[in-house]
Amino acid sequence: MTEPIQGMKRTHFCGDIGEAAVGQVVTINGWVQRRRDHGALIFIDVRDRTGTVQVVFDEEDASEIFHKAEQVRGEFVVATRGKLVERAPEAVNPNMATGRWEIRAQELRILNPAKTPPFYIQDEVDVDELVRLKYRYLDLRRPEMQRNLILRHRVTTTTRAFFDQHRFLEIETPMLTKSTPEGARDYLVPSRVNAGKFYALPQSPQLFKQLSMVAGLERYFQIVRCFRDEDLRADRQPEFTQIDVEMSFVERDDVLGLMEQLVARIFKESLDVEVKTPFRRMTWAEAMEKYGSDKPDLRFGMEFVNLSDLAAACGFSVFKNAVEAGGQVKAINAKGCAGYSRKQVDELTELVKTYKAKGLAYMAIQETGEVKSTFTKFLTEEQTGEIIRRLGGEPGDLLLFVADQPGVVAAALGALRLEMGGRLGLRTAGEFNLLWVMDFPLLEWDEEESRFVAVHHPFTSPHPEDLSVVFREGATRDELAAVRANAYDLVLNGVELGGGSIRIHQRNLQNRMFQLLGLGEEEANTKFGFLLDAFEYGAPPHGGIAFGLDRFVMLLAGRQSIRDVIAYPKTAKATDLMTEAPGEVAEKQLRELHIRLASE
Ligand code: AMO
Ligand code: AMP
Repeated sequence: MTEPIQGMKRTHFCGDIGEAAVGQVVTINGWVQRRRDHGALIFIDVRDRTGTVQVVFDEEDASEIFHKAEQVRGEFVVATRGKLVERAPEAVNPNMATGRWEIRAQELRILNPAKTPPFYIQDEVDVDELVRLKYRYLDLRRPEMQRNLILRHRVTTTTRAFFDQHRFLEIETPMLTKSTPEGARDYLVPSRVNAGKFYALPQSPQLFKQLSMVAGLERYFQIVRCFRDEDLRADRQPEFTQIDVEMSFVERDDVLGLMEQLVARIFKESLDVEVKTPFRRMTWAEAMEKYGSDKPDLRFGMEFVNLSDLAAACGFSVFKNAVEAGGQVKAINAKGCAGYSRKQVDELTELVKTYKAKGLAYMAIQETGEVKSTFTKFLTEEQTGEIIRRLGGEPGDLLLFVADQPGVVAAALGALRLEMGGRLGLRTAGEFNLLWVMDFPLLEWDEEESRFVAVHHPFTSPHPEDLSVVFREGATRDELAAVRANAYDLVLNGVELGGGSIRIHQRNLQNRMFQLLGLGEEEANTKFGFLLDAFEYGAPPHGGIAFGLDRFVMLLAGRQSIRDVIAYPKTAKATDLMTEAPGEVAEKQLRELHIRLASE
């Protein structure tokens, strides 16, 4: 029972119906949102990407199409034509953008019927995400999902226009390439024509964008898919999109300044929000010291207070022993939480324990000024007073303490700070806090592999002030671990939005870097010889950055998961439930690829 669209193509999108078309005969195409029967009148709401509009079928006016309208169900695809009229005042629907008007139907075609969908096509459906992903084409019909994709489109068009105005070139780089060193596992693609050889899908275009600078392309950008085989989370997908950037003849502040303009433009054009530039800047060391995180959420304060000096001299063995073992004691002030019950404090203790803390000590300052705590009995009155003073404690406050090695304190107290920020309503939706975190360490000692690994990637240049340490033969492990990178991350509301650096562009420094990373000369040449060679043919100083587009759009859309802003995402197990990828392949395909499965 399908009918042709011929002669019934839309004159208006549903969302464009308005005052200007009143009195005209309009044609709309779309899906049936719902049908209501009122005896001799049938109301059908028709939906397309732009909105919904009400169509009225009156048995008296047009009995033939009235009976056709009786057959229509939710999600039928229809074309309908009629005169647009103002509704009577009592019939106006203030919850509908087109609620002041309706179409008096003169014609109706059923272009395609539909089965009853597994969930309603409307916002805020309470359906399992697995069902949504299996029927993604229905999920994407929901207005909120369409809004997210429209927002994403707005961000990419703004980005392209911005870079074009600043004389960047959009340059595509290969998807079938060699393994790139961003630190995750690669997705490999077997080569049919080169038996036993594999391409890797790019974890990022890092090397190609640097080579493009050697090539004299000056300013590169690309909105590019990247692939990383890593454990997935709400803000991590196996394939994701970067806004990838590289520039020649620049220093750090040139990159940061231009990227601030880009980010501000995106906020303005996608949400009409003005963000202030320049963004706040903080060193990595300060971020770790005060917030225990390299991506602190600065929508609220609740900074860590370091009490290690006091703790070393106190009578509470948990604190004293931690400091003597080279650790720290740090605390935060959860304002107004002194009334927390035993159970609530236990919940917080469980939280810090998941980050390897051995416990959580607290002081609750009662309204009377009296202090309730498990450990103040081991302190002098002066010590208790000094702790309260340093934390700015007032009656009603709950002071929370973790004593441990610095890494554990940072992780545990950092998670606790975010938890308390959430509980106290300080992580305000709709507020955007942008922060540059800079001067990350260049190298990090990997205990398991017993060698240094690059914190960012091996092409990141050291901070100019620390260059001499890098080249000093016999520099100690501690000295090398303290070398700063000329690298920067952009953080939005506690999420790492992007990261980049000024690069190494000299062969000798790049060689030295590989050496520090324990990469032998031969291995370095096999893996990155083309880059090292390129550096000998006139490589300009250069630097860049890459933003996670999915994360950016997620935060702009106020969502908790990047899956909501990716049209066809994968599950946490890296599967596509709709197409059922990954899937098995024919024996013949494997043979052509010179592959035999181990299970056979
Ligand atoms: P980096 O590895 O920091 O840098 O990646 C840049 C940004 O990409 C986003 N991102 C992800 N988003 C979703 N899912 C993932 N699995 C995922 N992994 C990363 C993050 C991150 O900040 N080549 C360098 C950039 C450079 O130095 O210019 C790079 O890829 O938002
Ligand atoms: P305990 O001596 O283990 O009975 O602990 C006494 C109190 O100190 C309890 O409230 C513990 O939760 C807390 N506590 C124990 N270890 C730590 C630690 N490393 N940091 C902070 N508090 C701790």
